[in-house]
Formats: sequence, C-alpha cells, structure tokens
Amino acid sequence: MSLIKLIETLPKTELHLHIEGSLEPSMMWELASKHGVTLPYDSVEAIEAAYQFDDLQSFLDLYYQGADVLRDEDDFYLLMMAYLQRCRIDNVVHAEIMFDPQTHTSRGVGFDVFMPGFNRAITEAKQQWGMSVYLIMSFLRHLPEKDAIDTLNQAREYYPMIKAVGLDSSELGNPPENFVKVFAASRALGFKCVAHAGEEGPPEYIWQALDLLHVDRIDHGVRSSEDAVLMQRLKDEGMPLTVCPQSNIKLCVFDHMKDHNILELLDDDVCVTVNADDPSYFGGYLNDNYRALMTHLAMNEAQLVRLVKNSFVASFLPADEKNRWLREIDKLVGM
Ligand code: ADE
Ligand code: ZN
Repeated sequence: MSLIKLIETLPKTELHLHIEGSLEPSMMWELASKHGVTLPYDSVEAIEAAYQFDDLQSFLDLYYQGADVLRDEDDFYLLMMAYLQRCRIDNVVHAEIMFDPQTHTSRGVGFDVFMPGFNRAITEAKQQWGMSVYLIMSFLRHLPEKDAIDTLNQAREYYPMIKAVGLDSSELGNPPENFVKVFAASRALGFKCVAHAGEEGPPEYIWQALDLLHVDRIDHGVRSSEDAVLMQRLKDEGMPLTVCPQSNIKLCVFDHMKDHNILELLDDDVCVTVNADDPSYFGGYLNDNYRALMTHLAMNEAQLVRLVKNSFVASFLPADEKNRWLREIDKLVGM
C-alpha cells in the first residue's frame, strides 16, 4: 500500500485538538449572522485571509474573538459534530478533545449550554459510527489560578463527562508553577492531567509540568530537544508529547516544515504523536498533518506506523482497547 493510502487507512487517535480551534470560517460567518454578532470581516474569504500569525499570541487574539459567535447549545452541538464527522473521514477512531470553559463562561455562556451541546454530538457519533471520545477541560493560563479553581468547581455536575484537565493559552510568562493547586485538586478528583509546555516556552516549563503538575502527557513539548537531561527523562518515563506540526509552522515555532524536529524526536525514542491543534486556523486536519510529514520530512512507512501506534499508546484508553487497536494496525500494515 502507498504511504498516502496508509495514512488514510490506518485507524488513528487525535490527542491534541481544541474544539474552539475547529470553528471553520464558514460556520463562524453563519453563527455570527444567526446571533447578530458583528465580525470585523466582510466575508468568509476575509476571515480566511486574516489567518496569518507571527506567534502564539497573535493567533490567540483571533481564536478568542472567533469563539464569541458560539452562543447556544445548538452552536456547540454543530461545532462538535462537524469535527467528529471530520474524524470519520480521516479514520480517527478515538479523540481526546480539549475545550476552554473560561472562554465561554466569561461571556455568560455556562456549562449548562456547552456541555449538553457537546454531549449530544458525542452520543450521536458513538451510536452512529462507534466513535470514541474523551473530553479534556483546559484552564486558561493567562488568567489567575483562582479562576481555574472556580472553573473546576463550576464543572462539578459534568465530571462524569470529563476525562482530564489541561492548561493552555499564552505560555510565555505563565509557567506551570502558577497552577500547582488546581492540578493537585484535579488529580485528587481522579482526572488525568495534561499541560501545554515547550511550545514557545523554555524546557524549564516542561520540567515544571512534570515535577509540579505531575502531568500524564505534555502538549507540544518540541523544545525538549534543547535539554539532553530532559530528553532522557521523557524517554525513561515514556512520557508522550502531543506534537502539532502544522500549528508549529503557522505560529512560527519552526520556520518551515522541513526544519521540524518531530521525526528526530521519534527516532530518538520519544513517544511523539501527530495532532492538528486548531485545524481551521492552521490549514489542516489530522491526515493533512501526516501528509505534511511525508512531503517535507520524507517520513517513511516505519515512522508513520510508529507515530500512529504512539497515538494509541499515549491515549487514555484502557489497556485492552489500546492493544486491540495496536493488533489491528499490525494486521493492516502486514497486508
Ligand atoms: N489554545 C488553542 N490552541 C493553543 C495552542 N496551540 N497553544 C496554547 N493555547 C492554545
Ligand atoms: Zn494546543
């Protein structure tokens, strides 16, 4: 089977996807018109044309502005359903999806609006094509830890729907050490923990996420390669990194895809995975990211298979389900 066909055929998981970052310009336009929200653009094309970023913050400014069109339960249903249908096309059989409650609660849109919307779409995807979904509730690190603690408390009724907590938004100047209490409280409640670290921030932030927040996975983590001792730690612990290649190019973490270090990390035995992050802003869903590695980094079949297997190994699925998918991949590759 050709590599391109294998990318499409293999079952995959996606572990680093912000649902608000899957809001396509066409949906943003329709929801703005539905709710009478004035956008600073005069067409869908103008929204697309605005997606040129210098760094993480220049993206986040548009991402939070875009999320303002999400107002009622149906909007969150449509947003989630559109992403899950896209998963079906890319053969993503399991997704661990981040959502940012504070982006919505700060606008007066509560858990009782977005959680039932998400839940309806997830239930339909499970019933209709057997999709498996976990939710990751992410705290915004540019806001005080107190706000994150309030958010954790506000979510109480919805804990059964949530698998893990995360930490995202503006990284530089907002280190993991500021969020020790809310992560300790989350762990005590039984949630898995992930945190963005080493996207723009230094390796020190990755150390903090490991040692102070006790995370189960690092989101991004590409700057690990600057610290040999950290690299050894990641390998010794099998600590996964959820890497987002096209995101890193759009946000200028690397100048060009040919400069990306994901395959070096993989060949060095770090458990790296491929993810889309915010696909509608960065120009590609999951398979587009795999295809970019093939085109610009000459990813070979063995590397593809390892990346896809890592996506299951790094997931929060129970061991028997992971093993079932790993065997299925072996079967497909052997054909
Ligand atoms: N929120 C959405 N996408 C993000 C990213 N790539 N980094 C930090 N916060 C985010
Ligand atoms: Zn992210």
